Amino acid sequence: MIERSLAIIKPDGVERSLVGEIIKRFENTGLKIVGMKMVWIDKKFAEKHYSAHKSKPFFSELVDFITEGPVVAFVVEGVHAVDNVRRLVGTTSPHEAAPGTIRGDFAHISMAYASKKGSGGKNVIHASGSKKEADYEIGLWFAKGELHTYNTVHEKHVF
Ligand code: RTP
Ligand code: MG
Repeated sequence: MIERSLAIIKPDGVERSLVGEIIKRFENTGLKIVGMKMVWIDKKFAEKHYSAHKSKPFFSELVDFITEGPVVAFVVEGVHAVDNVRRLVGTTSPHEAAPGTIRGDFAHISMAYASKKGSGGKNVIHASGSKKEADYEIGLWFAKGELHTYNTVHEKHVF
C-alpha cells in the first residue's frame, strides 16, 4: 500500500511561480517528498516520458509544451500515493477539474481549447497515472541515489 509516485510542475506552473503553493499541498497531506529536482528537459527525454502518447494527435504539441521551460520533478511516498496524488492534481482538463484540486484552482482551459490553438494542454502539473507508470517514470527521472529514505513526523500518525 505504500507507494511512490512522480509529480512534475510543468513549465506553466514554474513560470507562474506556483512551485511553493503546489509543494505545500503535497506536504499538507503528509505525503513524503523523497526526491526533487529542477530540470529543463530536451525533446528526446520528453518523448520518453510521454512515450505512451506517441500516436496521439497532440503529441508534438505536448513535447513542445513540456520542453518550453524548466520543470520541477518530485517523487512522493505514502499510502496509495498514486491515487492520492491524482486526486490532489485533479482531472486532465482544468475546466472539468474540481475546485480544490491543483488543476481546478490554478487553470481553467480545456483540452479542446488547447487542441484548437495547437498547444499542449497547459494544466500546471503532471502526475503518474498508475503504479506501473509511476515505476517507469521514477526510473526515468531519478537515479537510485537521488531518492531518500527518512522518517517524517506524519508517519507516527499513520503507522
Ligand atoms: P499528465 O500525464 O501530464 O499527468 O496528464 P494526464 O495523465 O492527466 O493526461 P494524459 O492523457 O496523460 O495527457 C498528457 C498531457 O497531454 C496534454 N494534452 N494536451 N491538446 C490536447 O488535446 C491535449 N490533450 C492532452 C496535457 O498537458 C496532458 O496533461
Ligand atoms: Mg498521463
